[in-house]
Amino acid sequence: MKDILQELENRRQEARLGGGAARIEAQHKRGKLTARERIELLLDEGSFEEFDMFVAHRCTDFGMEKNRPYGDGVVTGWGTINGRQVYVFSQDFTVLGGSVSATHAQKICKIMDMAMQNGAPVIGINDSGGARIQEGVDSLAGYGEVFQRNIEASGVVPQISLVMGPCAGGAVYSPAMTDFIFMVRDTSYMFVTGPDVVKTVTNEVVSAEDLGGASTHTRKSSVADGAFENDVEALAELRRLVDFLPLNNRAGVPVRPFFDTPDRVEPSLDTLVPDNPNMPYDMKELILKVADEGDFYEIQEDFARNIITGFIRLEGRSVGVVANQPMVLAGCLDIDSSRKAARFVRFCDAFEIPILTFVDVPGFLPGTGQEHGGGIKHGAKLLFAYGEATVPKVTVITRKAYGGAYDVMSSKHLRADFNYAWPSAEIAVMGAKGATEIIHRADLGDPEKIAAHTKNYEDRFANPFVAAERGFIDEVIQPRSTRVRVCRAFASLRNKKRALPWKKHDNIPL
Ligand code: HXC
Repeated sequence: MKDILQELENRRQEARLGGGAARIEAQHKRGKLTARERIELLLDEGSFEEFDMFVAHRCTDFGMEKNRPYGDGVVTGWGTINGRQVYVFSQDFTVLGGSVSATHAQKICKIMDMAMQNGAPVIGINDSGGARIQEGVDSLAGYGEVFQRNIEASGVVPQISLVMGPCAGGAVYSPAMTDFIFMVRDTSYMFVTGPDVVKTVTNEVVSAEDLGGASTHTRKSSVADGAFENDVEALAELRRLVDFLPLNNRAGVPVRPFFDTPDRVEPSLDTLVPDNPNMPYDMKELILKVADEGDFYEIQEDFARNIITGFIRLEGRSVGVVANQPMVLAGCLDIDSSRKAARFVRFCDAFEIPILTFVDVPGFLPGTGQEHGGGIKHGAKLLFAYGEATVPKVTVITRKAYGGAYDVMSSKHLRADFNYAWPSAEIAVMGAKGATEIIHRADLGDPEKIAAHTKNYEDRFANPFVAAERGFIDEVIQPRSTRVRVCRAFASLRNKKRALPWKKHDNIPL
């Protein structure tokens, strides 16, 4: 018996060594942790239960039968993050470059199936050279099985990808179908084809960083939702994110102890909006002052900064926040901000996370760039996403809510439950100057008349009361009491039930 126990221990030891000491050292030298070290940091201490430690590939081509390392390049299993269950796979670059064989894919599929069955998130740590070249179509079939599960799990359990190394070819498409992708600066890349292929096909010379590094994907392409300085920070931040997320689409938001009072009044908010309507202010200040303990987890911080998306808690419960940012492009809606916010709203709705919207929007960005880029279709995404969302929706208009963008930003007409406005709100088809220039074109040569018309328009429309008269605004509230009002609103909506007509699925403008 003792011998068998010893043999088990020896085999485990061998499996834990992955691709061996030299490759582990090379991984460390690049500033990367190993697959197992990453899991250790991600999960609660001692909570990891591993599956399939002794799985080995079955390929016999290209001399592969002589190289059958335990685990086949991916560590899989489950554990907890602050006591809540998650499933995890972590690709081991030290074993055949973390490449995906048929058996490697089967290991990932097994934990995805378990996650779906048991209603817990899937976290994938990606560090892989893509399809295992020696396995040919078997590897592609393996990828295909993972993709199909990504699709079926979408909207059922949260799926989060950490990209912590090169991700090429098939390796980018599985993360692309998950809810969130995070990268590590300088050590992670995502591209369909690497710089060498790009050079061959298009004659374009580009570095890996420029082609698919963290800053490219967080600032330009929006493929990634955030980037961190190193593996340790990325894993710690992922734990923080998971704390905000429901375990599945039926579990409801997590409820955590909170150390803040729901009726906290913030007098400083009374002066947040400047007297001059053309002056910007930082909408993040409002978010931080409303959130429990000022804790805000921002998603896509570096992309389309004219809109802010992320998670806060109110009375210990997660809430998704969408807010126009007057500091960037005056907070207007454009292609990028519409896409960014629409995807976020749909995530929240899929997982029953209530949505809080702060509005200060002068309209849609005009111009050929926007029109030719399909601005109409992309703007419609956000409109569609808000209108189909059946979760509790609370909206606060702080200043401008002009034109179509007023309708889009979770207006009463899109079935928001509570629509509040600050006294500084201006709810109109457009700003006074633009409106006057159109409806009083004949007087354009007379500055005095134009000034009078503009003043008249401002008096009539540059306020929240016309909308309040019609019940489109439920209440005009004091800025200082925003947290109190919003907390009470969401508390009253905890049993909200609203269903859309039966359909197979909708046809959101993609
Ligand atoms: C088998 C692979 C591999 C792969 C890397 N390795 N990628 N083995 N299949 N796809 C092995 C290497 O042979 C090497 O083995 C070890 O992993 C480390 O790789 P290095 O090249 O030494 O590392 P590095 O210099 O850091 O470069 C990493 C890399 C590069 C950028 C990922 O290895 C690379 O370009 N690999 C190929 C990427 C690729 O074209 N993949 C196929 C994509 S097509 P030894 O034994 O020497 O340590 C695809 C289709 C799927 O994925 C489509 C589904 C829709």
